[in-house]
Amino acid sequence: MLSVKSLLLAALASVAYAAPACQPSATPTIPKTGGATELPVPAANLVLKKIALGHGIQNYTCANTSATGVSQGAVAVLYDVTSFYPGTAKSGIVQKIWDEAPGLVLKLKSLPLNIKTGSKYGADPAKPFPKPEDLKVAGFPVAKFLGHHYFDAAGTPMFDLNAVGLQASVTKLLGVDAPAKADKGPLNTGAVAWLQLGDSGKGLSKGLSQVYRVITAGGAAQSCAVAGAGVHSVPYTTYYWFY
Ligand SMILES: *[C@@H]1O[C@H](CO)[C@@H](O)[C@H](O)[C@H]1NC(C)=O
Ligand SMILES: *[C@@H]1O[C@H](CO)[C@@H](O)[C@H](O)[C@H]1NC(C)=O
Repeated sequence: MLSVKSLLLAALASVAYAAPACQPSATPTIPKTGGATELPVPAANLVLKKIALGHGIQNYTCANTSATGVSQGAVAVLYDVTSFYPGTAKSGIVQKIWDEAPGLVLKLKSLPLNIKTGSKYGADPAKPFPKPEDLKVAGFPVAKFLGHHYFDAAGTPMFDLNAVGLQASVTKLLGVDAPAKADKGPLNTGAVAWLQLGDSGKGLSKGLSQVYRVITAGGAAQSCAVAGAGVHSVPYTTYYWFY
């Protein structure tokens, strides 16, 4: 029969054995495009709250077939991938999969939006978002539904992380071109710029003050000669880092 002392020793031994697996998480670092200019690193006082994978559409308006598409809002569903960050103890995924996930999701998953009747990628303006669902894609851990990205009635970009009670109403601070090797998306138009977004000053943010958009895939405008006059939608995915 085991004595109390040997049980205690066994318990201590199992704690010591478990310890090496309990390493501190890697500190997530904003990636670099490798281009001539990079987004500024987040200020030292900013705290990373969430990393999301966003999947949706970028909208553009063409005045006519010889114009250039003008950005006109976006809608996307956000999934929580914070704990998948490479190097995170137990739940981190390998760097290559992390880097390729936006392109893979764009290729493998249909848009998580209510598609407007008669349109290929346009969302239903009255009700763009279906019932929240987690993101399940082969080779990637299940990513929990986190919230929605859309432009509010005043045309201000909004991130509503309703699953965790965070919100960011933002304005663009800076943008840099996505790397040339970035995934060009299903319309082969290229990847939208990487962005640093700051608070809009409208008093609509909750617990967030900055958002970075990095490792974009797809989303760049079609040529108006191809898209025609009016609004067109281009599928995209990206990571959003919330501070
Ligand atoms: C097309 O739209 C652009 C931008 O609004 C305008 O500058 C241009 O004159 C228009 N061209 C034609 C042929 O209507
Ligand atoms: C984006 O454009 C599509 C048409 O392609 C439209 O159905 C949708 O409501 C638009 N959404 C936004 C946010 O502008």
